[in-house]
Amino acid sequence: MQSLKAFVESVPKAELHLHIEGSLEPELMMRLAGRNGIELPYRSVEQIKKAYNFSNLQDFLDIYYQGMSVLRTEQDFYDLTWAYLEKVKSQNVTHVEIFFDPQGHTERGVSFGTVMAGITKALDDSAARLSVSHRLIMCFLRHLSEEAAFETLEHAMPYRDRIVGVGLDSSEVGHPPSKFERVFEKARSLGFRAVAHAGEEGPPEYVREALDLLKIERIDHGNRAMEDGELVARIAASQMALTVCPLSNFRLCVVDDLSRHPLPEMMAAGLRATVNSDDPSYFGGYVNENFLAVAEARDLSISDIKTLVLNSYLGSFLSDHDKAEGLAKVESFAASFD
Ligand code: HPA
Ligand code: ZN
Repeated sequence: MQSLKAFVESVPKAELHLHIEGSLEPELMMRLAGRNGIELPYRSVEQIKKAYNFSNLQDFLDIYYQGMSVLRTEQDFYDLTWAYLEKVKSQNVTHVEIFFDPQGHTERGVSFGTVMAGITKALDDSAARLSVSHRLIMCFLRHLSEEAAFETLEHAMPYRDRIVGVGLDSSEVGHPPSKFERVFEKARSLGFRAVAHAGEEGPPEYVREALDLLKIERIDHGNRAMEDGELVARIAASQMALTVCPLSNFRLCVVDDLSRHPLPEMMAAGLRATVNSDDPSYFGGYVNENFLAVAEARDLSISDIKTLVLNSYLGSFLSDHDKAEGLAKVESFAASFD
């Protein structure tokens, strides 16, 4: 019997909840700051890491927006994205669905086109050289206005064929999904798929709004849905995927200890849960470290890991054909593992 660790590390998997700006490692942040002549309030990688001590989502977001200020040129976005793709390749990730935050860049005077050019060039190189497939999802920053979200959707139109969907992230409480009902409706009418962060810090009602008003196909986080049995039953019946991020939940105090992370209860309730890294450089681990941490804290079995990994393909935006191929790869890996 090989170990659960070996299973996690080697099984083919998909990652469905990853903010590319949240994969900016301190070393690359320092290098890009130097390259672009940007002053950071840190002198060393150690100082940066020390600042990653968060009491809630907003604490993190303040540092996250400051960190991304070093990203200015197409090459910066390329280097950022390529580093993430090489990392996940080493973790046997075969497919990634990547969020990006265009408003975090356009607000600083970096054009939408610069961001897209760097990210998509790395994604294309990865499809060719690493055999990692991808989908790209553009998030609206929910602390900004509806009007700004409409403007961002307009900016995206020339890149319509490269962006599969829209998402919603940033400060949740006080910025309910209803604020973005109209822009999501417009995006869906243009053929974009819809996802949203909901129930990370916000109440179950925000999850209901994301389902009913934004008509999302996937729930990002979704932890607080667990407070509402009727809502859980509804999500379970629909087989909609939840993109759960254990280390993020711990580092942002969504759970006070990983030993109390609700992942096993989500699975027991029939929810299609997946495991993801969210912002790996800020939260202490990529997707495999997330699997290992929650498996240890909640005593998950290899069979649980297999279910979660199958869910990562089932919940993806891959074609039915490519989903089936992903599922078959997991089944054949599991069959050869003993
Ligand atoms: N929640 C909300 N917004 C975010 C996150 C998150 O976990 N990561 C990056 N932007
Ligand atoms: Zn997120």
